[in-house]
Amino acid sequence: MWLVVVSVTLLPAVTMVSSRYRVKVAVLCHRVLSWALRLVRGGVCVRDTHAFVFSNCTHGKADSVLETFDLYAETHQCLCIGPQTGEALDKVVKRVRPLRALELGTHCGYSSVRLLRLLPPGGRLITVELDPVTADLGEEIILVSGFKHSQFQVLTSSSAEAIPTVRSFLEPSQGNDGGVSLVLMDHDSQQYLPDLLALEREELLCPSGCSIVLIRRNRSADDLRGILDHVGARADCYCIKTELQCLVEIFYQKGSARAEGDGGNT
Ligand SMILES: C[S@@+](CC[C@H](N)C(=O)[O-])C[C@H]1O[C@@H](n2cnc3c(N)ncnc32)[C@H](O)[C@@H]1O
Repeated sequence: MWLVVVSVTLLPAVTMVSSRYRVKVAVLCHRVLSWALRLVRGGVCVRDTHAFVFSNCTHGKADSVLETFDLYAETHQCLCIGPQTGEALDKVVKRVRPLRALELGTHCGYSSVRLLRLLPPGGRLITVELDPVTADLGEEIILVSGFKHSQFQVLTSSSAEAIPTVRSFLEPSQGNDGGVSLVLMDHDSQQYLPDLLALEREELLCPSGCSIVLIRRNRSADDLRGILDHVGARADCYCIKTELQCLVEIFYQKGSARAEGDGGNT
């Protein structure tokens, strides 16, 4: 009852303030709503990222798409790896020149575009995203960057469900050995080891050599312990090729990784 009395008493004042300061009230309401939405969505909004990139980049130009992502990330929270980690990843991709690459964690397509623009002619990327809305938005950004469906495939599922199906999306090609020669993991660090074991089981790591790039989101000493312990215990086929704050590159080669890895830190 008291609530009704207070509301009725305040109504004329609220109406007067609203009409006099209509624009300011509207801006304030919009800010409160965006703030509440960000809070509910956990701070990062994939739709906002997509909308900004889609409407501000030059369509068909991968470098413009990446620059627009970087511009957005200057003022907004964004899960993309960003230019610094991106350049470290570029170095690996330029060295490996993978004909077949696998990415776990597409998000809005930033790292997919970085990878795709450096694949050799005929190269193909399989990228996996758990969230269906995010997967659609990521796929659209990859297309907007100028890449064709013949060059990439987005799989919408968890990495654990996707890995056993990946082989069916790899076309046999020269020098491919039936597997992938680059894997980028940037999905969930708890999944890095189980997914590496699944890739081994499915024989998806190219036996003649495969670089597995682990993005380090959590810079604590323990973040990659499980997977690095596994790699350390399998010195017959794994070595650590690059170790940076932002990423670790593991090199896999069936039987003889040790020689390849000696002094290989870049
Ligand atoms: C940090 S973001 C990836 C950012 C992306 N590499 C980039 O730079 O643009 C992680 C993404 O992985 C997805 N993800 C999380 N767990 C996953 C899983 N088990 N399988 C597939 N995708 C997953 C999330 O939905 C999210 O979009």
